[in-house]
This record gives sequence, structure tokens and C-alpha cells, in this order.
Amino acid sequence: MTDCMIEICGLTKMYKSKTAVRNADLKIYRGEIVGIIGRNGAGKSTLLKMIGGLVYPTSGELHFFNRAAAGEQSFFERMGVLIENPGLYPNVSAYENLNLLAMAYGLGDRNAAIEKLLQLVGLDSKNTAKVKSYSMGMRQRLGIAVALLGSPDVLILDEPINGLDPQGIVEIRQLILELNTAGLTILISSHILEELSKIATKYVIIHQGEFIEVLSREELQQRCEERIELGVEEARAALPVLERELNITKYKVVDSRTVYVYDENIHIRQIVKVLSEQGIMIDSIAKHKQSLEQYFLERTESAGERHD
Ligand SMILES: Nc1ncnc2c1ncn2[C@@H]1O[C@H](COP(=O)(O)OP(=O)(O)OP(=O)(O)O)[C@@H](O)[C@H]1O
Ligand SMILES: [Mg+2]
Repeated sequence: MTDCMIEICGLTKMYKSKTAVRNADLKIYRGEIVGIIGRNGAGKSTLLKMIGGLVYPTSGELHFFNRAAAGEQSFFERMGVLIENPGLYPNVSAYENLNLLAMAYGLGDRNAAIEKLLQLVGLDSKNTAKVKSYSMGMRQRLGIAVALLGSPDVLILDEPINGLDPQGIVEIRQLILELNTAGLTILISSHILEELSKIATKYVIIHQGEFIEVLSREELQQRCEERIELGVEEARAALPVLERELNITKYKVVDSRTVYVYDENIHIRQIVKVLSEQGIMIDSIAKHKQSLEQYFLERTESAGERHD
């Protein structure tokens, strides 16, 4: 995954005096599923629109596939975009929707391409029902098929799970994973971290237009993993005791006075007992358990409010 597909540097979008996205930096590598997570109005759609070429940045740079974007329209064409509502024709079938667009794009061998796409997103090409009768989940699938029409390398999905029922969520998630396995790099936004946690390989927390954290799946898991946070005078002295007396092997030394213990079978009182028996003073000890949503809320709350 060393192949950089998109790089954004200092990307900013202002609507009059309102800054929707401020000074965003990010590198997106081939094969990643990047989850953009933020509350309503955080700037998710604006960011994705800039990357997808639907709105023009006020300042900053966008580089595609290691080359400058300026004047390189073809790079936008290698991107499939589904932002807000898919622009579907309500009075024709799914097949006909794709056919009309494929004609507009000038695609050759349309029939085979459309059959394949509909199969990929789990829609029946023989279904002649008009799209206006479709459920939300079916529309979302068709929207994804539309975004995939030009065989893009990168797929941008703005809140594709929004408004779907639990079954629909599972299905779209599954589809996204399949598309990723088939080689697509994917950017996806949501206001619920939990929804992205099952698929994204990288997380960008955006709050009031600013990236407040970019972290890998492993880093996020680690932050939310249950642990005992131990404060001692000297971690170096406590560790051999914990290893020897309690067989603790899963731990992390955070700094010279703080150790995190990741062992569900160990109780706080056992640690207190063995350390005090060895004459090691404990400054603090507490269990730490946080859900993904708590983590997200805490991060965005601590970032505070910006007024401009
Ligand atoms: N066309 C526009 N004109 C003026 N302001 C806009 C425009 N589009 C977005 N904004 C403002 O920019 C900020 C970011 O909006 P954006 O739609 O990107 O947020 P979002 O994270 O996608 O929110 P949501 O979860 O509600 O979809 C908001 O304060 C919004 O009001
Ligand atoms: Mg939005």
C-alpha cells in the first residue's frame, strides 16, 4: 500500500466568510478505505466534493496519483462519486438509468458493462420497475452502480449508509468490502463512527472544518480497547513484578511513570496487591473502557467550538 492515489495539501473551502474545510492535509493510498467521520456540518460533504471535483477549493492543492491536478480533468474521471442524492431518472428502470448515462459517457459495449455492474451491486437487470418505486437501499445500490460506471480507481461515497435499515447497512457494507477487494480505493463518510469501524482502514475525524485526528484501524482499536491504566513512580520497576507475579504480557509503557495493561483476566486489586507486596507505590490505577462513539464524542468535544 505504498502507492499514493490522492494527496491533499492545505485544502480549504470558504463559502463567503464561512470556512467549511480548513487547511486539510491527507494522503490516500491505493487499496485503503478511508472513513471521514464528523458531525452534521463538520465539512465531510465539502471535503469529498473538492476531492471529487464537484466544488473548487478556495486554496490548497489536490494531487492525483502523484501528479498535479491542475488542468488534469482525466484524473477526476478516474473517480466515481456518490454525494448526497444520486441523480437518478425516476421514471425508468435501473438498467435504463445506467444505459442513458453510459450513452452520455460514450461507453462501448454498454450492455455487457451494465449487466456486470448491476450484478456487482446486487440489482436485477431484468427488473423493469421504475426507479421511483425503489427502496432506499436499492436506490443506494444503483447510485453506487452509477458511480462505478466509468470503471474508476477511486470511489467516493458520502454517507451511503444514511437512512438504511440494519439489513441494508450490512448489505452496503458488504458491497463496499467487495469493491475494495476488487481493487478500488474508497473514501466514505459518516456521522457515526461505529458504522465505519467495521470497514475503514483509516479514519479521519473532522470537526468544524478541521481534521482533528487521522488514525489507522489498529490505532483506533487500541484507543478503545479495555485496559487498566497504572501510574507508578517508575514503570521500569513495576514491569518485572507484573510479568513475574501475574504473567502479564500484554502491556504498553506510555511513559516512564505510566503503564497500560491489556489483560481482561487481571483485576485492579491483583495489581495493587503484588505491587504493594514488592514495595512499589501506586500513584493511580483505573480501568479504562470506551466505546467508539464515546471516543469520537470526547475527541470532538475537547476540540471545542469555533466561531467564524
Ligand atoms: N453551498 C454552500 N453554501 C454555503 N455554505 C455551505 C454550503 N455547503 C456547505 N456549507 C456550510 O459548510 C459547512 C460544512 O458543510 P458540509 O455539508 O460539508 O458538512 P457535512 O459534514 O457534510 O454535514 P452533514 O452531516 O449535515 O451532511 C456547514 O456549516 C454548511 O452550512
Ligand atoms: Mg454532508
